[in-house]
Amino acid sequence: MSERETWTSRIGFIFAAVGSAVGLGNIWSFPFQTAANGGAAFLVVYLLAVFLIGFPTMMAEFVIGRRGEQNPVASFKNIGYGNWSFAGGLGVFSSLVTLSFYSVVGGWVLSYIVGSATGAYFGDAGAYFGSIASGPTAIAAHAVFMLVTIGIVASGVTDGIERATTFMIPAILVLLVGLAAWATTLEGATAGYAFYLSPDFGVIADNFWSIVPPAMGQAFFTLSLGFSVMIAYSSYLGRDDSLPADGGAIVVVNTLVALLAGFVVFPILFATGGAGGAGGGAGTAFVALAGAFGNLPAGGIIGFVFFAVLLFAALSSSISLLEVPVSYISENYGYSRATTAVAMGATIALVGVPATFGTSWLGFYNDVVFKLLLPVAVLLIAVFVGWVADTEAVDELGRGSTFGESFTTAWLWWVRVVVPFAVIVTLYLGVTALYEGLNTGAYF
Ligand code: PFF
Repeated sequence: MSERETWTSRIGFIFAAVGSAVGLGNIWSFPFQTAANGGAAFLVVYLLAVFLIGFPTMMAEFVIGRRGEQNPVASFKNIGYGNWSFAGGLGVFSSLVTLSFYSVVGGWVLSYIVGSATGAYFGDAGAYFGSIASGPTAIAAHAVFMLVTIGIVASGVTDGIERATTFMIPAILVLLVGLAAWATTLEGATAGYAFYLSPDFGVIADNFWSIVPPAMGQAFFTLSLGFSVMIAYSSYLGRDDSLPADGGAIVVVNTLVALLAGFVVFPILFATGGAGGAGGGAGTAFVALAGAFGNLPAGGIIGFVFFAVLLFAALSSSISLLEVPVSYISENYGYSRATTAVAMGATIALVGVPATFGTSWLGFYNDVVFKLLLPVAVLLIAVFVGWVADTEAVDELGRGSTFGESFTTAWLWWVRVVVPFAVIVTLYLGVTALYEGLNTGAYF
């Protein structure tokens, strides 16, 4: 087999990892989950989850990847714990399932870019959503989105992933800042900011247990944790990079993008009638926002830019999701990267087809990932790094880092105790909700 690729530079790795992290989760789910869960109250719990649980977990994945220097399954073996490979395998499986429906939503975004240009959703955003969210249009758009993803991954780690994200991430940042600046001029923007930024601690206290699972799920999802993606990406990393510094940069940029998206979405929603209609999940978000674009002066142009940003974000994430199974299969079975990318991409696209039949399938896929697969995978990672490969983990985190021993020790104990505790609580709450949803016919 040919020599394994590595990132051409540290910044290349950071762009790629930020590209994975910044996605539909930041610009689409985050504002709407915030709207659905009480605004600023959700924001506070979410930020705590990102920094207190997400950041240490990201370093745990980095440690495994850089130490293992292989795909997420073989990396466990390379570190000397082959019987833990299933933990990496679970992430590969989750990536596969997630990409299958992520790509369907990516297809919606494509349809909304077209709709912004033609004005098709300006009159009746709900009807437009109905016409593109399922059926032949949804399948076709899903296929196109998947083809682009395959094309980038097939081109390789440096020529495909690194090059694409080095272009897309700055574009996303610049365009979002522009949109947020424009949004300040809207009448009603102030009410939007207030809803978004003034936490009511009474609301947090009363609803804490119902805010925790979505906030934690969102934190893991937005940081691409529990999918083996960060294991895969850090396996292409040089030995002398500082994992805490890189991880910190990735978490901060990712959080900034989500916050910025809120500064775009909330003024727009409040300028055209409040966040009320936007809290009901997948479809309502597209309908509420598109409806707002339809009602604003120059809304078509704004909509076009917004959905273009969303497309870049979705693509820079979908390539990371495809990279995980592709690196595993091509390294493990010796197929070429391009062949594997096409074969895996096509398979995943087929798995996603039920999600084009209607949004209830999509909701079900989404909830299985958020409430079950993600927390289980993160729990396994934390136990593995904290208790099984702890000596190796501490040694690896110390390499290239200037943070010193007390930081590393604190991190280890955090990953040993606090992360598993928080994740077990989340898992319990999430699985109960999933079970209840299945029993009450919430999905099918
Ligand atoms: N972090 C991406 C988002 O917020 O949209 C989604 C994602 C990408 C999750 C890659 C997991 C992953 F492995």
